[in-house]
Amino acid sequence: MSIQTEKVRELVERRAKARLGGGEKKIETQHAKGKLTARERIEALLDPGSFEEFDMFVTHRCTNFGMDASHIDGDGVVTGRGTIDGRIVYLFAQDFTVNGGSLSKTMSEKICKVMDMAAANGAPFIGLNDSGGARIQEGIDALAGYGEIFERNILSSGVVPQISGIFGPCAGGAVYSPALTDFTVMVKNTSYMFLTGPAVVKQVTGEEVSQEDLGGASVHASKSGVTHFAAENEQEGIATIKKLLSFLPQNNMETAPEKPTADPVNRMDDSLNEIIPDNPNKSYDMYGVIRSIVDDADFFEVHKDFARNIIVGFAHLNGRSVGVVANQPDMLAGVLDINASRKAARFVRFCDAFNIPLLTLVDVPGFLCGTQQEYGAIITNGAKLLYAYGEATVPKVTVTLRKSYGGAHIVMSCKQLRGDVNYAWPTANIAVMGAEGAVDVLYAKETPEAKAEKVKEYNDLFMNPYQAASKGYIEDVIEPRNTRFRVIRAFESLEGKRQGIPAKKHDNLPL
Ligand code: HXC
Repeated sequence: MSIQTEKVRELVERRAKARLGGGEKKIETQHAKGKLTARERIEALLDPGSFEEFDMFVTHRCTNFGMDASHIDGDGVVTGRGTIDGRIVYLFAQDFTVNGGSLSKTMSEKICKVMDMAAANGAPFIGLNDSGGARIQEGIDALAGYGEIFERNILSSGVVPQISGIFGPCAGGAVYSPALTDFTVMVKNTSYMFLTGPAVVKQVTGEEVSQEDLGGASVHASKSGVTHFAAENEQEGIATIKKLLSFLPQNNMETAPEKPTADPVNRMDDSLNEIIPDNPNKSYDMYGVIRSIVDDADFFEVHKDFARNIIVGFAHLNGRSVGVVANQPDMLAGVLDINASRKAARFVRFCDAFNIPLLTLVDVPGFLCGTQQEYGAIITNGAKLLYAYGEATVPKVTVTLRKSYGGAHIVMSCKQLRGDVNYAWPTANIAVMGAEGAVDVLYAKETPEAKAEKVKEYNDLFMNPYQAASKGYIEDVIEPRNTRFRVIRAFESLEGKRQGIPAKKHDNLPL
């Protein structure tokens, strides 16, 4: 065997060994927990044969606690680049089979390298997390590693899409990298995120809680909103990341890829002409309206289980990616509360940062009142959504279906927040407040009969879209069944939109 052949054989062997990570036994343990390995996850995520690995032979430099006796190539993370649907992404996947995927300084250097490459090359960055946190033996070096990652998350924010998959433990300060990224996908029963685990919680507060109830996927998807997606299993989590990317551009200088459709632009839906109930206190399902308008009824919802009184997600309109924001009358009458405002504000800001036009469907009775909301700062949180719409310079098309009252009317992408095209259905009520409430304020001392008379007068005068139309606050009153055609045409007319904001270091969003 020639020297060269021998060296090639050595390379092949070293690679094979590195690919085994912590070894077959640890891989078995990983599988027994219902989890894939880092490499299996990457294989499932990327186009076949597209993965190019970097830094496979990197090892840690720690000598504390006998660590110098054990070096595993790759040091607990697999990094590199590949393609998804033919589009480049940079990624890392932590390998729990090596020191529990714990973060060493060298692991952070590997991760930072792909983050830098993603930013420099304008490609999305994906992190698949499965880690015991800071590598305890490395002490402060591991913390420095986290700091380096966080700083890059921040600098890349609004430059390239950043997506975190949480496919195992993610605890302590480690949770802050996913929190800084644009979207987080968790897997039910095998992943969790919390600052301190159940044992520490019991010690500090006396509260007894399971891992799943403290920081599992369902909790973060429905209660805290920390995760945008809770997948049933890892395969579904990976499919979610892929689908999400299909609506996004590669970076903030590009637009999202088009998705050709056979769905006719002028497809009418007669059922929309009858969807609004006669009784204003009755609800209807906004999902049906969204699916009726968008291409092929394909709506990809974000934050599905969190603040369900508002709906946000992605769809295509005549092949072009749009962000949809819609009040949901079926849940709390579609009222805006703290969580709904936070949820929608974050989504609107993401879309604006990445050139994704916004379609807003309005049916909102107002902001939720009461001490719980006031003490929780509904004022500041509501202002987030107001701010997000007001600063957004992407094309904004708004359709008011029914109620649009008071401050909530302004917040939901009204004309004065630089809404580009604002339509209303004939069933729209665009007013300061509902009739009963208004009459109670103006005619508090009147008899019920006199009040009823005034309610009728108020309804006749204000509970329609024509007051707003007569002042140019909406562009047109449209037939509901024709909404798809009208919004597509509106977005087409806005394709060349160029709008700016005053020069500033950065804004001061109410936080
Ligand atoms: C070094 C670690 C480790 C860590 C796990 N391991 N976490 N090694 N540093 N942080 C090692 C274990 O010793 C074990 O090694 C292997 O990984 C697998 O771990 P197990 O405990 O056997 O696995 P499991 O039973 O599944 O439990 C997983 C776990 C648990 C719940 C994550 O390992 C755990 O509680 N780890 C410690 C978590 C933690 O406190 N991290 C530090 C947080 S502070 P062997 O050799 O036996 O296979 C932090 C600060 C970040 O992260 C601040 C950022 C700003």
